[in-house]
Amino acid sequence: MMRVWRSLDQWTERRRAIGGQDAGFVPTMGALHRGHASLVERCRAENQVAVASIFVNPSQFNDPRDLDRYPRTLDRDLALLERLGVDDVLVPAAHELYPNGYRFRIEAGCLTSVMEGAHRPGFLQGVMTIVMKLLHLAGARRAYFGEKDFQQLQAIREMAGDFFIPTEIVACPTVRAASGLAESSRNALLSDTAREKAALIFHALTTAATAAEASATLAAEGFTVDYVEDHWDRRFAAATLGGVRLIDNVPLNPHPQPLSPTPI
Ligand code: PAF
Repeated sequence: MMRVWRSLDQWTERRRAIGGQDAGFVPTMGALHRGHASLVERCRAENQVAVASIFVNPSQFNDPRDLDRYPRTLDRDLALLERLGVDDVLVPAAHELYPNGYRFRIEAGCLTSVMEGAHRPGFLQGVMTIVMKLLHLAGARRAYFGEKDFQQLQAIREMAGDFFIPTEIVACPTVRAASGLAESSRNALLSDTAREKAALIFHALTTAATAAEASATLAAEGFTVDYVEDHWDRRFAAATLGGVRLIDNVPLNPHPQPLSPTPI
């Protein structure tokens, strides 16, 4: 039976009881979808104890309207986690995680100057700060993050390294709908027509020769493009459609052509 922890004091006692068993951890902001399910399934398969958290973290929203309209589906999320075999879920209130307000903060260094860091002031700082708190609370051997939020994943990997956090950061591939649209909690805010059109982000990223060409294609299709940029051998995009801001990224040259066999 899955246990739900709202009090961090009670969770700390339970964490002591878990002791040296391998714990895996999947932090989320709820509104769970197939992407989250894939993280949880891997966490379940690789660890003795599977722990998840659901917390809509206010410090990572630079726009209060975005925080207000972020989808909240707690009962459905808990039912899904239980079906997936999770042992423990942390659902703390904001005053538990920020007992003295938003006092100490983790800076993401030079990552703050590009993409999500540049377009959403305070976003990476908010994510790094809450992830640091959650990693300490979970005390997990492994924590699972999706490649859909690749810049976030990269920042978390680097932060965990720089702060000697003994949790392995495990990257999991983006889960997509048949149309190519990356699974995201924000997709729930799209109309049916917008959801169909949103798949153009993936198509532009995978078919355009350059980032500039992908950006122009999306703009011509009615997206408001924040950026299309290449970093870490991947192509990234952030664009708004029907008032909903979506991000995605794909590896560049994911299927390198094998070299032609050397003629004898
Ligand atoms: O990716 C998310 O859902 C959030 O940014 C995270 C990592 C749970 C931190 O709030």
